[in-house]
Amino acid sequence: MESRPETVAAATTILGLCGIDHDDRVAIWTDTAKRGPLPQAFLTAALVRGARPLLLRGTETASQLLAAPPEAALKAFRDCDLVVDIATQPWLYTTANADTLRAGVSILQVLLEEDDVERLVPRQQIADEAKRLIAGLAGAREIRITSPKGTDATIRCGSRRFAYQAGFVEKPNHLYDSIGVSAITFYPERGAVDGLFMVDGPISLYPRCFLPDEPVAIRVKAGRAMDIAGGRDARRVAAWLTSYSDPDSYHFSHTGFGLDARASLSALTPVDAESLRGGVNIALGSSMFPQGGGDVVSKSHLDAILLDATFQVDGETLVSKGQVVSDK
Ligand SMILES: [Fe+2]
Repeated sequence: MESRPETVAAATTILGLCGIDHDDRVAIWTDTAKRGPLPQAFLTAALVRGARPLLLRGTETASQLLAAPPEAALKAFRDCDLVVDIATQPWLYTTANADTLRAGVSILQVLLEEDDVERLVPRQQIADEAKRLIAGLAGAREIRITSPKGTDATIRCGSRRFAYQAGFVEKPNHLYDSIGVSAITFYPERGAVDGLFMVDGPISLYPRCFLPDEPVAIRVKAGRAMDIAGGRDARRVAAWLTSYSDPDSYHFSHTGFGLDARASLSALTPVDAESLRGGVNIALGSSMFPQGGGDVVSKSHLDAILLDATFQVDGETLVSKGQVVSDK
């Protein structure tokens, strides 16, 4: 499919931020279920950057969440500097994803369609802010999340460290990112989370994202979601989790907060949800993500956002009732 000049321009900007340069090898990974101009736009953008692109198209992975690409594609990725991942289903949090990253290959996930890629094109300033924030949290011991709706939870940091996403990769330490995602993230160890989360913002049951009519109450004990209550939407979330028949679907995977003022509740993509500036994220399920230190592999991953929460680290307030404190 032919791509608009604006889409190619956005893709070129993104590959530039990723440091793609002359003779770099860029694999563009897509599948037969994926429509739209993004694979072609990234192919053109890679050529504009002077790189050597390789366009790989597999059969669809739409029927299974967190399905890894076939072995032949994974082998081809090993010879590349960057994989632009335009697959239908996310394969972040899979062992294949972690192994590719451990081989030193960067992966840039593309969950958005072209209009949203242009709208949320990554910005260096947001990455700089994220890096500043996590540098200040280097020795964090405890995260506390509260909200007027009744959220009250504690996360013990142990040896884990904060990570960030800003929509582009940066070698050598930031090998994974997802276009449009701008957030601070923290992946706790097993058993390190206790409390109640009142989810009043978007909930991503991939690939869908919806806004609950009334808050969904998720009670977490020793790092596992034990109870999900709150009416029709809570029943939907519980049924989605049950459908995977995987005990680790209930593992508390990550928390953190969004940093992009352009991300919008009206767009309601999973990427917007996680990036809403001042929105506090929580997730259940797989956490296998070397950059964040997560190590639990599950068949599912659910993201949910608290819109009015306060996020504190060792008593310092970073987000107050849905607002990043430095914006005040
Ligand atoms: Fe997540």
